[in-house]
Amino acid sequence: MRKRIVQAIGMVFCMCILLCACQSQERTASDKIYIGVTYYDQSDTFLNELLDCFKKYFAESENEEMKVTVTVRDAAGSQRTQNEQVKELIDAGCNVLCVNLVDRTAPSEIIDLARGEDVPVIFFNREPVAEDLMQWDKCYYVGAKAEESGVMQGELAADAILGNEQADRNGDGKIQYVVLEGEPGHQDAIIRTENAVATLESKGITLEKLSYGIANWNRAQAQNRMTQMLGEHKDQIELVLANNDDMVLGAIDAYDALKYMDSERPLLFGIDGTDMGLKAMEDLKLSGTVYNDKEGQAAAMAELAVAIVSESGMEEIEFENDKYIYLPYSKVSLENIDDFQGR
Ligand code: BGC
Ligand code: CA
Repeated sequence: MRKRIVQAIGMVFCMCILLCACQSQERTASDKIYIGVTYYDQSDTFLNELLDCFKKYFAESENEEMKVTVTVRDAAGSQRTQNEQVKELIDAGCNVLCVNLVDRTAPSEIIDLARGEDVPVIFFNREPVAEDLMQWDKCYYVGAKAEESGVMQGELAADAILGNEQADRNGDGKIQYVVLEGEPGHQDAIIRTENAVATLESKGITLEKLSYGIANWNRAQAQNRMTQMLGEHKDQIELVLANNDDMVLGAIDAYDALKYMDSERPLLFGIDGTDMGLKAMEDLKLSGTVYNDKEGQAAAMAELAVAIVSESGMEEIEFENDKYIYLPYSKVSLENIDDFQGR
């Protein structure tokens, strides 16, 4: 009998310990904001510029009541590394995380880790699928709509083609084009291309696709792909559509290296409005780009992080579907380029 009672007490005790361990701690409001950031790859131009804006935002807005510490980690293209970084950032005491996923289809481990310690997560730029974001009510997303940037790129290209008889260089009534694509599986790759092409067609422009190259957002890879396509199609290419500025700059590098004259070059369009992209527009090497609002995205992430941790100001933030903040794109032309430079 006594043995049974001791056993029963022991079991209740064990269950209590288990229950306490499983219950995640609820964090309380804090005026010390520790933000842990991890991004997919430090070689990405747009993200480096976005994170510079993010740090600058706090450098300019920090005051006595609010102390902010930002720690940034580079996942170097590995989801496994990124998961470990999230664990370390949480262990180091971060009370909010900003995650630019390596693999946007694989956020579950990060969400589980964060939920276990009640550390909210703001995903940015690489959008998780909706079902994944629904896993926990303290997951958010800050970014922009791929479709919108594709439509704008198509409009810029259509304006340039319709206003210029030289655009159809061989005069066959069609625009021969090639595409430089971003990473397969990224929301901004295929969707940008499809919308740019559909927009051009909706303006009555007949297109002929000569080729495409996947260059993973990367300038050097894009130069390689473009050099190959030029080897095959020479001066038949009348339009280059690139999913981002770094890749269109790579295409320009290819034309430069092969010493094409200005009059032999196609119209070329990018997306982002990076520093180098805007510079290439000013130098008249790039025909146009679409501004990916890094300042707006950085500010939205920063404001959301502060509101979450301080538990104030959340009601002023406008979400789509409770979780999403999308910043609008803008078309950049030589007339308005000053508005975007040195923001
Ligand atoms: C940007 C690219 C960038 C990619 C990284 C896109 O939104 O336009 O320049 O490489 O995000 O995820
Ligand atoms: Ca033609």
